[in-house]
Amino acid sequence: TRRGVAILGIFVADLAFRAGRMPGVGETIAGSGFKMGPGGKGSNQAVAAARAGAPVTFLSKIGKDAFGAVALDTWRAEGIAANVTEMADQPTGAAFIYVNDATGENAIIVVPGAAATISAVDVEAAADVIREAAVFITQLEQPVEAARRGLEIARAAGVVTIFNPAPAEAFDDALYALCDYVTPNESEAALLTGIAVTDLASARQAGDAFLAKGVGTALITLGEAGVLLHSRTGSIHIPAISAGPVVETAGAGDAFNGGFAAALASGADPVAAARFGCAVAGISVTRAGTAPSMPYRAEVEAQLQAAAP
Ligand code: RIB
Ligand code: NA
Repeated sequence: TRRGVAILGIFVADLAFRAGRMPGVGETIAGSGFKMGPGGKGSNQAVAAARAGAPVTFLSKIGKDAFGAVALDTWRAEGIAANVTEMADQPTGAAFIYVNDATGENAIIVVPGAAATISAVDVEAAADVIREAAVFITQLEQPVEAARRGLEIARAAGVVTIFNPAPAEAFDDALYALCDYVTPNESEAALLTGIAVTDLASARQAGDAFLAKGVGTALITLGEAGVLLHSRTGSIHIPAISAGPVVETAGAGDAFNGGFAAALASGADPVAAARFGCAVAGISVTRAGTAPSMPYRAEVEAQLQAAAP
């Protein structure tokens, strides 16, 4: 029987710099803090799902270097089964993350390194791992051909598919028909549908556009406004769950996606799973870092209880 979550994506070392503002071109400014930690959307989602209690397998490629060792240590510590190729001739990826001191908002440059070479053939080699999962999720930090092959393998095996189109880039619309769920944020939804998402009404329009392209359910994440869950049978707004003052928003989308995937894999219905994802995200933004800020299941359940109407 299928169980747990299979995740195709990338790991990078997150190099987070805190400062009062972004430096301009040709300018040097003093920052107020620095932290290195595990990152990459797929790996962050794996950590969120594992801490939420799901059995997790992560499919990726890294280099044989210092950041690659951070990746292996992270997955071992989190109990994530790594189905990962270590490349001798490519580096492990890295991300520059600017964090605004006052607001916790971020700007990111991500370089995937070895993970930029993940191909459809690589994904096929791990097909059994995908077929054994209850839920498959992927993003767009590795090549789209790899994401597509993973979704095809999952769909053909009856595995629930989630596509987190982040960071957004144009791709062949045929991919949407492979998706039980798509989970863009506002700007990704806007780029992919051409509809500026500024409120619930425009999020519903973008949701309709995703349904017309063949998606089962669109979950449009709206930051502090929560999530819109939009399907043919209805449109439900799930408010954000606040767990305290915001420290760092980088990785909040990954927290939502990992939590949502884990909850679906454990048998939750989509609305309950989305609420669970909102609680995971709400806690993660109150803590520094991306993967390190993911909460454990008990914390999420306590937060859901506290937020219950
Ligand atoms: O979603 C946040 C992640 O995006 C960061 O961890 C950074 O690595 C980038 O890939
Ligand atoms: Na965080």
